[in-house]
Amino acid sequence: LTPQDLAGRRVLVTAGPTQEAMDPVRFLSNHSTGKMGYAVAARAALRGAETTLVSGPTALDTPAGVQRVDVVSACEMYDAVVSRAAEQDMIVKAAAVGDYRPAETAAEKLKKGEGELTLALARNPDILAELGRKKRPGQLLCGFAMETQSLLENAAEKLRRKNCDMLVANSLRDAGAGFGTDTNVATLLFADGRRETPPLMSKEALADVILDRLLAMRQARA
Ligand code: C5P
Repeated sequence: LTPQDLAGRRVLVTAGPTQEAMDPVRFLSNHSTGKMGYAVAARAALRGAETTLVSGPTALDTPAGVQRVDVVSACEMYDAVVSRAAEQDMIVKAAAVGDYRPAETAAEKLKKGEGELTLALARNPDILAELGRKKRPGQLLCGFAMETQSLLENAAEKLRRKNCDMLVANSLRDAGAGFGTDTNVATLLFADGRRETPPLMSKEALADVILDRLLAMRQARA
């Protein structure tokens, strides 16, 4: 039987990609499948947490015991997360949120012309940075970072800038890590400067490690 060590805690997880519409048939997105975030939500619920999963478009089933909120764009994810943030004990932001959206979404399908098409992009709000600004005492914030270069430097900078307690840094270059795989290898960075690199393991097992570390931080502060 799974220990109910997260009973009485509220955990919000984000997962999956966002889709940013150009017109009614086209969008900008990324390769995220949502597997890592769904694993965190599944394990949190099994360990007794009251778990909310704010999910971009994925092909995955809702994990047992999880309340799922479906969104499409980064702006929709922002509203869904920020409106639920205050009551959460832990927020795990595994979603691959699009940084930009088409500056305008055409009401009708864009027709092709003869020459080039230039697409103007507007910046999306940074959900995690906003959560970091609004973080209340005792609340724990965990971000994710995926990079193709200078991973740990960028991750450490994100941890600080977004006021996170922990950041999970994934390299797209490591075998067994990244989009669509069932395993992951990541370095966990903590606000106090500690770093930890668990061995290659399933996304479920890594989800448990992430939740273990957040719970330990919570207990250390209590
Ligand atoms: O800066 P970068 O996008 O690499 O940071 C990744 C982390 O920030 C992830 O946890 C992701 O969910 C979050 N993020 C966000 N809103 C954005 C962009 C990223 O919450 N607009």
